[in-house]
Amino acid sequence: MQNKTILVTGGAGFIGSNFVHYYLENHPEDKLINLDLLTYAGNLSTLKDIENHPNYVFVHGDIRDRQLVDKIMEGVDTVVHFAAESHVDRSIMEPAVFLDTNVMGTQVLLDGALKHKIKRFHHISTDEVFGALDLNSSTKFTENTPYNPHSPYSASKAASDHLVRAYGDTYSLPFTLSNCSNNYGEHHFPEKMIPLAITNLIDDKKVPVYGDGLYVRDWLYVQDHCKGIDLILENGEVGKTYLFGGLYKDVNNLDLIKIILKIMNKDESMIEFIKDRPGHDRRYSVDFSETEKALNWRPSVDLEEGLRKTISWYQANEAWWRPLKEANVGYFNKQYSERK
Ligand SMILES: NC(=O)c1ccc[n+]([C@@H]2O[C@H](COP(=O)([O-])OP(=O)(O)OC[C@H]3O[C@@H](n4cnc5c(N)ncnc54)[C@H](O)[C@@H]3O)[C@@H](O)[C@H]2O)c1
Repeated sequence: MQNKTILVTGGAGFIGSNFVHYYLENHPEDKLINLDLLTYAGNLSTLKDIENHPNYVFVHGDIRDRQLVDKIMEGVDTVVHFAAESHVDRSIMEPAVFLDTNVMGTQVLLDGALKHKIKRFHHISTDEVFGALDLNSSTKFTENTPYNPHSPYSASKAASDHLVRAYGDTYSLPFTLSNCSNNYGEHHFPEKMIPLAITNLIDDKKVPVYGDGLYVRDWLYVQDHCKGIDLILENGEVGKTYLFGGLYKDVNNLDLIKIILKIMNKDESMIEFIKDRPGHDRRYSVDFSETEKALNWRPSVDLEEGLRKTISWYQANEAWWRPLKEANVGYFNKQYSERK
């Protein structure tokens, strides 16, 4: 028996695909439609094991395509919106597509959700909309932190967040929104920092570290994020924002790479410092105590355990990441070789 129909956008990407698996496993009675454009970041091999699942439908298409979105929204109860251009480095090279997909694409979905009287629109966002915290402070982002994005990526996500809330205020769209810190885990595209480090080390190549490496991110294991989103769909209050973070203590990029090196039995000579990225935010840290109170959610996997799981996964799944890394060799050369 089918209960709800849920539309997931961007379900062939990193977090979206983890969420699609999580959701089908935990709500086998619901129908899940996955709308994804399959950009460089979307990968159907990630979803191979569920392609014949009776309650799963994949639609290859663009969230900016109004006609398509209108057709797909018919009969949908809940939208979970992940689809985005998501890589800060790429947004510095080519900002236009970030505005197009992240802002205009979100607006097309919001219009579709209104027209079809969707019961819940959940928008996935990032803690990067809040800007940067001081390296030596113990301040954390909260639900009340003003927006102050620094990269074209975070600016486009901030604009999409404002748009979602504006549709709530103006047209009473029943939305929820979550701002999450950096995720890591399986099926993470190999150009992002953690999988890049792991896959380079598997090949005995050095690990690039930007600037002095003293950049702090609040790493969250992706399965914990998926669980949190599911809790919002079940128990979240319409019109509310929820924050997710993963760590109780700051860990900078250099410390993080050293943990990976230790787990993989490599020494620190494998670190290669490269020229910094422009506008690089120093520190992100999320106070998720309100989410903890409201949803009884907290990270369940600590960083070292999560990294061990992630490393084992990349070691066992070369067939997934090698073709992706090879197909994007132009990007890797442009981004890293030129910064040495
Ligand atoms: N990765 C993180 O650490 C992190 C942290 C917080 C929030 N987020 C947010 O979570 C969401 C998912 O992030 P991710 O890391 O999984 O991203 P990703 O880049 O791995 O995946 C994005 C997916 O969206 C699809 N897509 C892109 N443009 C599209 C379009 N126009 N129409 C349909 N599909 C399109 C891509 O094909 C891809 O499958 C994003 O909204 C991102 O801003 C990510």
